Amino acid sequence: MKILQFTDIHLTRQGDTIGGRDPNANFAKALAHALDLHGDAEALFITGDLSDWGDEDDYARLKSIIADIPMPVHLMIGNHDDRQLFTSVFPELGNEDGFVQYAVQMSLGTALCLDTWGPDTHAGHFCEDRARWLTTQLEQIDGPVWLFMHHNPVPIHVAPMDKIMLLDAERFGATIAPFAQKIRHIFHGHCHMPLSGSLHGIPFSAPRGTNHAGWPDFSATRLLASAELPESYAVIFATPNSVMTHMVEFGYAGEIKGEGTPDYADWDRMTMVR
Ligand SMILES: [Fe+2]
Ligand SMILES: [Fe+2]
Repeated sequence: MKILQFTDIHLTRQGDTIGGRDPNANFAKALAHALDLHGDAEALFITGDLSDWGDEDDYARLKSIIADIPMPVHLMIGNHDDRQLFTSVFPELGNEDGFVQYAVQMSLGTALCLDTWGPDTHAGHFCEDRARWLTTQLEQIDGPVWLFMHHNPVPIHVAPMDKIMLLDAERFGATIAPFAQKIRHIFHGHCHMPLSGSLHGIPFSAPRGTNHAGWPDFSATRLLASAELPESYAVIFATPNSVMTHMVEFGYAGEIKGEGTPDYADWDRMTMVR
């Protein structure tokens, strides 16, 4: 199974920039890059912060862009989104409890897309209703299960981000722990930086995001630091026994020494020939 993860696309009004970067242009660039090089992926998951200001226009534009993508696209909402406006444009993604939570059958197991949105806050939430839904799903599905969500369920030890992580992380952990054998991986976003680790033995990972980039300043107290690091998305390969996640820095504009480039022989001699 091969899948793609974009996160924190932060679409905004045409022409507006965030941190000097154009989220609409970068989303288009990420799509063109991913579809050119990874058109064989079976699905694209976008793990939240779809719109920077939760604007209906952004969701309508996203919907029309997705209509032209030749693979299934699965959306989650993040703290910058507006659940009500999102589900007014994507009513099929709201479940009977009003959450944007749903299951997707994959060639290898089942993806569960989770809703960690809460009103009037940038922090993540996972209330009892959402936990009950997830427990029911995990009881019914044989596995393997792939979890997708916006907020990080484990602190990253950078204070400004940890204030707005998944605040119900204990409830979330207690919900998934009994099913650790069938949950293969958690894919999240929100932090705008590449992360990996585990929760109750379940691995997780996050790519940087397709627009603005965070920087892990462990002494920060109020604001997440940012840096001019390349815009990125994730490519994920999974077999019944293994998972590999790559962060592809499609925004990198520098040189790539590869097969067929003029100085590749020198590079090969320096690094590989012994
Ligand atoms: Fe974000
Ligand atoms: Fe976020």
